[in-house]
Amino acid sequence: MYSRLRPWLFRLDPERAHAATLRLLQLVGALPPLAAFVSRLYKMPPQNAVNLFGLPFSNHLGLAAGYDKDGLAWRGLACLGFGHIEIGTVTPQPQRGNPKPRLFRLVEDEALINRMGFPGRGAEFVARRLQGPRIEGPVIGVNLGINKDTPLEEAAKDYQALITRFNPLADYLVINVSSPNTPGLRQLQGAGALNGLLKSLAPYRQKPLLIKLSPDLSEEQLDQALDIIVNNKIDGVIAANTTVDRPRLLSHHASESGGLSGAPLSALSRKMIGRIYTQAQGMLPIVAAGGIMSRLDAEAAMNAGARGRVWCRFIQV
Ligand SMILES: Cc1cc2nc3c(=O)[nH]c(=O)nc-3n(C[C@H](O)[C@H](O)[C@H](O)COP(=O)(O)O)c2cc1C
Repeated sequence: MYSRLRPWLFRLDPERAHAATLRLLQLVGALPPLAAFVSRLYKMPPQNAVNLFGLPFSNHLGLAAGYDKDGLAWRGLACLGFGHIEIGTVTPQPQRGNPKPRLFRLVEDEALINRMGFPGRGAEFVARRLQGPRIEGPVIGVNLGINKDTPLEEAAKDYQALITRFNPLADYLVINVSSPNTPGLRQLQGAGALNGLLKSLAPYRQKPLLIKLSPDLSEEQLDQALDIIVNNKIDGVIAANTTVDRPRLLSHHASESGGLSGAPLSALSRKMIGRIYTQAQGMLPIVAAGGIMSRLDAEAAMNAGARGRVWCRFIQV
């Protein structure tokens, strides 16, 4: 279906195309007969089920954070056969994000650059979207971030409030310390800051807690972060968020500021998965994200971190 819709969507400005598909999926989720029809179309064979963190994932494929930031369309997305859907990033208070344009298609590179800056309607809105009866289907994660005007010294308070709010509503939670579009956020991956942050979250944890890391960490920074993550008994790592690096790109949008995602991220993300797997001796579940454009990419990501321990996700806007 995507290949049929793509030419139409690509005529629209990227953010409008994103909003249009969200609205369509919202409609699917709101109309039970349509939802049942779409679910039948996209039913996935159950042979790839995996149990992680005590959660039953019906398959290895999930939807990464950033597509459904406000939890508007998760019921419709659930009909597309995903094993898990990650809502967010959600911030405590609503905020507008960065001025537009802030999302760019790099068609020749099969990539995107975004500098969205966590636009969203805030935690209360998203929490209301998640209330009510849960349909059988994908595991639901909520990805958590801080508001732009939260000083870094107070970041822990934002995460604590978000964890408390979403503990009863989500199956797992993700600490996002790796988006390049919130000034200073990625400093929270530094050894001292990360250890302090994760320790401060321990009393609030009730659901599996994952952390999403940047592909721009050096090997040394990654190793230090992993020691801290393992010592603090974090349940899993998502590798990776978007990169501020610019490998050789063809598109005229290549010099836009923001995070690059899509095909050029494949190799970086795969290398990172391999390193995490080795450093954590296979004991830390890894969620692969970044440049998973095909089944082959998904298999390569899984092989980099041992089959059964890694599962893959993609986002296409
Ligand atoms: C438009 C857009 C918005 C995103 N927003 C978020 C976000 O809010 N939180 C987050 O953790 N990651 C966000 N991401 C990063 C994705 O979740 C994913 O980690 C990254 O794009 C790499 O995967 P991909 O190459 O398959 O797109 C966003 C990505 C894009 C393209």
